Amino acid sequence: MKNILVTGGAGFIGSNFVRMALEEHPDVHVVNLDKLTYAGNLQNLADVQDRPQYSFVHGDICDGPLVERLLEEHKIDTIVNFAAESHVDRSITGPKIFIETNVTGTLTLLQAARDKGLERFLQVSTDEVYGSLGSEGKFTEQTPLSPNSPYSASKAGADHLVRAFGHTFGLKYNITNCSNNYGPYQFPEKLIPLMIHNALHDKELPVYGDGMQVRDWLYVYDHCTAIWQVLEKAPPGQTYNIGGCNEKANIEVVEIILDRLNKPRSLIRYVKDRPGHDRRYAIDAGKIISQLGWKPSVTFEQGIAKTIDWYLSNEKWLAGVVSGEYQQYYQRMYAGR
Ligand code: NAD
Ligand code: TYD
Repeated sequence: MKNILVTGGAGFIGSNFVRMALEEHPDVHVVNLDKLTYAGNLQNLADVQDRPQYSFVHGDICDGPLVERLLEEHKIDTIVNFAAESHVDRSITGPKIFIETNVTGTLTLLQAARDKGLERFLQVSTDEVYGSLGSEGKFTEQTPLSPNSPYSASKAGADHLVRAFGHTFGLKYNITNCSNNYGPYQFPEKLIPLMIHNALHDKELPVYGDGMQVRDWLYVYDHCTAIWQVLEKAPPGQTYNIGGCNEKANIEVVEIILDRLNKPRSLIRYVKDRPGHDRRYAIDAGKIISQLGWKPSVTFEQGIAKTIDWYLSNEKWLAGVVSGEYQQYYQRMYAGR
């Protein structure tokens, strides 16, 4: 692995992955292709953007000729596809762009990669493709895909396409299905940064439904190390579930945030539930742990403390991302809910 094309590297997980790659693997050249949507932010990489082994390209994964040119020009041997529309709530109000980027965009990358003899195409996917769990059990790699939201349906569509390109054309691929991430540089439309931001500004914390939905939280750096292990050690054609064994009800997470920030529980406001809201996600990460020797570096308690500290020390970053379009988004999603 010498030259990696990382797509969506200016987003939350992508930027954490690019930073990890540049800092811990200086022998690798990283080309970051990002469209810079509302979720893409070059500030996320300001501290590493001048590294000689890093190049940024502003562009769309749906642009086939551009992708083909980048593969040639940079002698790309590995693609890691993070680029996506990633927020469930936005997929409910406007699903089309999710199909364009997550399905057509992935197809475009696959077509460009198909005959290039890549060492690996790694599709970064989500546990949400498996649907929702009852109070028992966990998702394994054998769980049938049964997505419930337009977001998860688009990610499942992409997973199927990647697998089909492996089966039909011999593309060497892996798919990783990870649980909910949290950590530095997450856009405050997602639960944890949204609640941190609102609590810091003494705004109400909007908890959907009864707040008893369960997510399995993983610190973003640990997701990045898991992807790296897959790139280095996994045989092609394998899928890996990634998760930290950190199941928490949403209300529990919100209360932890309030307590750490010394803010009152009276800021919590129960609001109208998300339509089709998945009740519980939980990952069985036994395969990646036993086959590749990956393990998370922090517990949820350590990870959430690091995350809150990061947001406290990066108020300028936070103020930047909540200016402009975010205010209209917040109004649209939450006013009178
Ligand atoms: P994000 O929304 O923070 O970032 C997405 C990035 O992709 C942005 O930089 C955006 O500009 C870029 N992008 C969007 N459309 C593009 C296009 N057409 N061409 C090029 N770039 C484009 O998302 P994230 O939370 O960092 O998630 C990254 C990936 O990980 C996604 O594929 C997501 O499905 C997956 N994932 C996320 C989580 C999570 O908890 N956030 C969990 C599991 C898997
Ligand atoms: P989110 O961060 O949007 O991730 P996902 O829907 O992909 O799991 O939401 C995590 C959980 O938090 C989910 O059950 C929805 C809930 N939630 C709220 O209760 N209030 C909010 O304002 C948001 C954004 C999410």
